[in-house]
Amino acid sequence: MSYTFLSTRRDGSVERLMLNRPDVRNAFNEHVIAELTAWAAAARAAAASGDVRAIVVAGAGKTFCAGADVTWMAKTVRYTEEENLRDATAMSRMFAAIDALPVPVIGRVQGAALGGGAGLAAVCDIVVADADALFGFTETKLGILPAVISPFALAKIGRSAARELFLTGARFSAARAKEIGLVHAVVPAAELDAAVDGYVREILTAGPEAIAAAKALIPAVWPRTVDDVTAMTAAAIASRRVSAEGQEGLRAFLEKRAPAWSGRDKDTKA
Ligand code: COA
Repeated sequence: MSYTFLSTRRDGSVERLMLNRPDVRNAFNEHVIAELTAWAAAARAAAASGDVRAIVVAGAGKTFCAGADVTWMAKTVRYTEEENLRDATAMSRMFAAIDALPVPVIGRVQGAALGGGAGLAAVCDIVVADADALFGFTETKLGILPAVISPFALAKIGRSAARELFLTGARFSAARAKEIGLVHAVVPAAELDAAVDGYVREILTAGPEAIAAAKALIPAVWPRTVDDVTAMTAAAIASRRVSAEGQEGLRAFLEKRAPAWSGRDKDTKA
């Protein structure tokens, strides 16, 4: 498949995707969104057939991604509400398609990841950032909203950081991004590729089916509400309480002795 605003390269079983609109800092408009969505579908198929086991997402030039194209968004004032909804839904589906890829996606962030660019980082499983990179959910600075990226960003940074960063729109450092879980490794710019390749090597030594199952497990468990999981968590603890091991542990505590499995007396400081 050939693209106008993306470039792709297959390196063994590693798919390398590059956003390629450096003149506007890889901002995405409706065309980029359509291409990214098509690319994600192709990458999904290649992953399913076992041809692709890891994906690296990068941005051409000095910036990873400046988010949604402001020129395009300004134009949407002339769209009908229906057209605006169609566009926003397409953008949401693009993020969801990347988020759900069944192989690990590594983001390589240099320069900046702002607005939807931070959203793109959020749908990567692993993000490696250059120490000087800037991040920001900057939408409110433009009078708009980090809406379609919010489920992905919240899943990474949680409600507390989102309350600060969504509301202020403030830019923040790679170190802060790491602290809140948006980024996993911060390295000097010259070491970005080596750090990305280190993650790729780790991934290639793990079982591909196990990785896919682990990736699917996370969203299956995490978004469930307490009410949703109460039956499951209550059943789990109830069965431990009545198990031989659980009974032994509880009794041992009450009797101030070490449990049978510890092999030594609690009071013996061996
Ligand atoms: N949409 C459209 N164009 C954008 C853009 C965006 N999101 N971000 C940058 N550009 C354009 C600039 O208008 C400029 O165009 P010009 O050369 O015609 O003047 C060009 O990209 C380079 O931008 P510049 O600001 O000079 O580059 P920089 O390397 O100094 O800084 C950024 C890069 C990303 C830090 C800076 O461009 C920026 O803050 N962009 C806004 C990001 C943002 O708030 N995105 C949220 C959108 S919801």
